[in-house]
Amino acid sequence: MSNHKTIAIDGPAGAGKSTVARMVAQKLGLLYIDTGAMYRAITLKALREGIRTDNPAALTELAGRTNVELVAGSKQQVIMDGEDVTEAVRYPEVCLNVSKIAQISGVRAILVEQQRRLAEKSGVVMDGRDIGTVVLPRANYKFFLTASPEERARRRASELATKGYTIDIEKLTREIQERDYTDSHRAVSPLVPAADAIVIDSSGLGIESVVNMMIDLVEKDK
Ligand code: DC
Repeated sequence: MSNHKTIAIDGPAGAGKSTVARMVAQKLGLLYIDTGAMYRAITLKALREGIRTDNPAALTELAGRTNVELVAGSKQQVIMDGEDVTEAVRYPEVCLNVSKIAQISGVRAILVEQQRRLAEKSGVVMDGRDIGTVVLPRANYKFFLTASPEERARRRASELATKGYTIDIEKLTREIQERDYTDSHRAVSPLVPAADAIVIDSSGLGIESVVNMMIDLVEKDK
């Protein structure tokens, strides 16, 4: 474990993790690492190479020969084997397949190792699903950020509305509930708060309030 400050932020999709993590990192002068983007980059490459999601050996081999870099900036850039894939890793095709690839233990082992190395090099705010439990079990601070399924569905629907899509909120809420169940019951690195994580429910809270709660807790220890 390094001597750098490490902050782990885990939680389900739509709880506001990445926005909060980026802002906390900026305020504390730490590097922000979006680990979901790493799983997404591997998924993008697998899709391009036509490797099926039910082929763990080939996917693990692919992860081992892929270089993913995260470049800090107002919007974190994702560079895969030298190519800027920041936009491409958000494509619907990637969104649809990434959770299957994230279940493969060989892929996880490779990415977890890379994530630990990043935290050795500098102070980090790392967001994901297993940061406090698996990647950085000795992180200085662990937060588990959640929000009710209804709230997360509303946030997602309003985000999609800005892109011109109309969404059935009830259907979306059900999908989120189903995904929460799968994620928290999967065999490898299930989505659960670390025993020593501070759980924050962001339903009804603005991003700023959540960021300030975290910063206050970190500064209090100074
Ligand atoms: O946070 P996100 O939506 O970009 O994550 C993409 C996928 O990767 C999602 O299916 C959860 C998974 N993931 C994971 O299993 N472990 C992580 N540390 C980060 C993401």
